[in-house]
Amino acid sequence: MKWGRPGRAVNKKGGYPFGIRPGLARTPGIMASPTPVPGVLDILPYVGGRSAAPGATRVFKLSSNESPLGASPKAVAAFSEAAGKLHAYPEGSSAVLREAVADIYGLNPERIVCGNGSDELLHLIAQCYCRPGDEVLFTEHGFLVYPIAARAASAIPVMAPETGLTANVDELIVRLSPKTRIVFLANPNNPTGTYLPVEEVKRLHAALSPETILVLDAAYAEYVKRNDYEAGIELVANSENVVMTRTLSKVYGLAALRVGWAFCPEGIAGVLNRTRGPFNVSIPAQLAGAAALRDTAFTEAAVAHNTEWLAYLAGELTRVGYRVTAGVGNFVLVHFETTPSKRTASAADEFLMQRGLIVRGVANYGLPDALRVSVGTEEANKLLVAALRDFWFATEA
Ligand SMILES: Cc1ncc(COP(=O)(O)O)c(C=O)c1O
Repeated sequence: MKWGRPGRAVNKKGGYPFGIRPGLARTPGIMASPTPVPGVLDILPYVGGRSAAPGATRVFKLSSNESPLGASPKAVAAFSEAAGKLHAYPEGSSAVLREAVADIYGLNPERIVCGNGSDELLHLIAQCYCRPGDEVLFTEHGFLVYPIAARAASAIPVMAPETGLTANVDELIVRLSPKTRIVFLANPNNPTGTYLPVEEVKRLHAALSPETILVLDAAYAEYVKRNDYEAGIELVANSENVVMTRTLSKVYGLAALRVGWAFCPEGIAGVLNRTRGPFNVSIPAQLAGAAALRDTAFTEAAVAHNTEWLAYLAGELTRVGYRVTAGVGNFVLVHFETTPSKRTASAADEFLMQRGLIVRGVANYGLPDALRVSVGTEEANKLLVAALRDFWFATEA
């Protein structure tokens, strides 16, 4: 085999030349890796939801808060049309997508920045605004991308305790310091599903210095049916230091395509646009995303499905005897017991796995005794409840 030729760099015996993979250190004995920026090696890599249940004949993935209805057929058609454009670079500002967001949500498209998933935007904000040693504040069971984004930007993650699995504004406020550059608030939060009313969010914002950015991560906003909830549009519109991030991975069913957007004050939009990749959202993602956003009937059906089955899961599991944090997103958090009880989260996880029901362990969120269950199809929801009922009786003391 020769270096530099297309094809897999393996020798005739099927091993890697020199016993190492291409791209790794080639000089035996010199194995030290170059040093990344401070913080990076402290990152525990994000682990996504599992998708395989070995041995199960049918598999129901309820581990990643994906939409059980899939994507709008109009989005799928737009994606297929994009197959004819794979040779071309995308339009760099995602204009088609920003126009669709602007129309559907009534926003100024100049203040929308699109990303390769909202994850990219969360990272970008940290990268653009944190200097080494700055602090990034978030809550105890907050979304795990926040500490990762903070560390990747050489900032210090600071965690505020929650009360009853819900963000506590007072606990956040007492942890603000002159070094706090970003406060990340998932509203509603993943994996707890709990939310802060708009008045509480405003109270938090009022306590921030103009140099601190409040990022309202509203990935699950479309599902919320509460009068005292707002995703953050008004706060962004009336301030210079609030950003709202949204995703098309959840209710719009486009997790595979990676589409997110941020509504920003002009100044912040300018900063993110200077630093994002020039073609960060692919053509298929832009076109399918715009079509999904405009198919409001499909979105309404997805929300209605969620409202019905979220209540079903919470109600039925509570009836069995479980303590359930139902939340306002597209998932519930089911609480289990600690050993020596047999009714532990890990035993339940294994039990469900054998029936092809994949849910999410949340020990890495500081919740070792809980499992997060996404709302699925009618069939999956009913199987899930039946399985957890069987597990309850199988583990009776
Ligand atoms: C609270 C929260 N924010 C952001 C995201 C990331 O979404 P995206 O797929 O747009 O990167 C998720 C995904 O699970 C989430 O739960």
